[in-house]
Amino acid sequence: MNRVLVIGSGGREHALAWRLAQSSTVEKTFVAPGNAGTALEQKIENVVLDVADFSAVIAFCQIHHIDLVVVGPEQPLVDGVVDALSAAGIACFGPTAKAAQLEGSKAFAKDFLERHQIPTAAYGEFTEVESANTYLKTQNYPIVIKADGLAAGKGVVIAENKKQAEEAIADMLADNKFGDAGSRIIIEEFLVGEEASYIVIADGKNFIPMATSQDHKARDNGDIGPNTGGMGAYSPAPVVTPEVDQQVANEIIQATLDGMAKDGMPFTGFLYAGLMIDAHGKAKVLEFNVRFGDPETQPIMMRLNSNLDQLCLAAIKGELKQTAVTWDTRFALGVVMAEEGYPFSYAKGNKINGLDQNDPNVKVFHAGTANKDGFIVTSGGRVLCVCALDDRLNLAQQKAYQIVQEINWGSEYYRTDIGFKALTP
Ligand code: AMP
Ligand code: GLY
Repeated sequence: MNRVLVIGSGGREHALAWRLAQSSTVEKTFVAPGNAGTALEQKIENVVLDVADFSAVIAFCQIHHIDLVVVGPEQPLVDGVVDALSAAGIACFGPTAKAAQLEGSKAFAKDFLERHQIPTAAYGEFTEVESANTYLKTQNYPIVIKADGLAAGKGVVIAENKKQAEEAIADMLADNKFGDAGSRIIIEEFLVGEEASYIVIADGKNFIPMATSQDHKARDNGDIGPNTGGMGAYSPAPVVTPEVDQQVANEIIQATLDGMAKDGMPFTGFLYAGLMIDAHGKAKVLEFNVRFGDPETQPIMMRLNSNLDQLCLAAIKGELKQTAVTWDTRFALGVVMAEEGYPFSYAKGNKINGLDQNDPNVKVFHAGTANKDGFIVTSGGRVLCVCALDDRLNLAQQKAYQIVQEINWGSEYYRTDIGFKALTP
């Protein structure tokens, strides 16, 4: 029986830990630091651990006989947690620091994609304001300006005109608005189409696709308003047709794994390709993430039937080719409930009512929640992700929104149209 440690504290980590804890081969799941939702789960225990201190993580794993570490967020991966734990003989699922550059540096990712002829938007890379502005003269609008490094989803500006583009360039390169992350920028062609997330589990050579999904990144109904980490997601996503699936699997995912192996940094872990699919069904890479998506994880974990610990361990051993994954054929849909004001400034510490749900086809995953004086209170921008499973997507949507209606804390905010793209006739 396996003892597992999950690193992270969001909705993604709640869903991963919840699924791991249900595995027939998992005895105990620890989450560092976890949230008020993971604290409530059977067979799950939150632990206080500085996850940036790898020697502390190693010591914890040794003392508690941890058989598998699953890393939720990108920062520890980019910082080398897999390298450090592997060197100490601990099975840690995720990419090495070198391989994690696919997310850690947009310049690295673009250079990699171009070199291996993997479909992506045309781009230029700059460290100087003057050359970036000169490049603009040869381009059309809108155009996309991206900070090179990790910027918590905030380092992307879609400029509608020259003035906005020059401002974004100045903010990043001259005024250091994103710190080091913005000392190098990418200027990229604006792609038109529909976005989809394509997430796989990879073992350095081979991969198994996770169920397809689509998230809603914009804050408001109709996919408008500021960009967020994601306001809801559903699975499966019909935009990923069998033809798109084939193209992405071969020309994007397999090509990426082959390229990374060839470049001496084989990729093991969850690989998430953010895609733009054009009117002809042709997909291009918008970005890579080297971890599972949040909130895509939540509906996808609702549908995963296989033992997640076994999948991760098989990937670490390079044995995915011999491994099968099974999915619940039903639809899962998750609605994010956020604090009003997210993604900017918002209140914390509000007491959440209505969390007791016991429908087996409904799950309320916690993200920004904490325990305070015996109550569960809000502690982050994205607070909960309310997920439901049903035979049809509209039924899953109805069920999720029924539960959302029952939960409140006075300043909750959520979109009322999650899944609309797959439901509009
Ligand atoms: P990224 O973090 O690179 O995925 O960018 C965040 C969001 O910006 C994406 O989800 C897209 O909605 C948008 N975006 C990024 N790059 C492009 C592009 N080249 N063309 C159109 N939209 C883009
Ligand atoms: N849902 C988008 C992300 O996890 O990056």
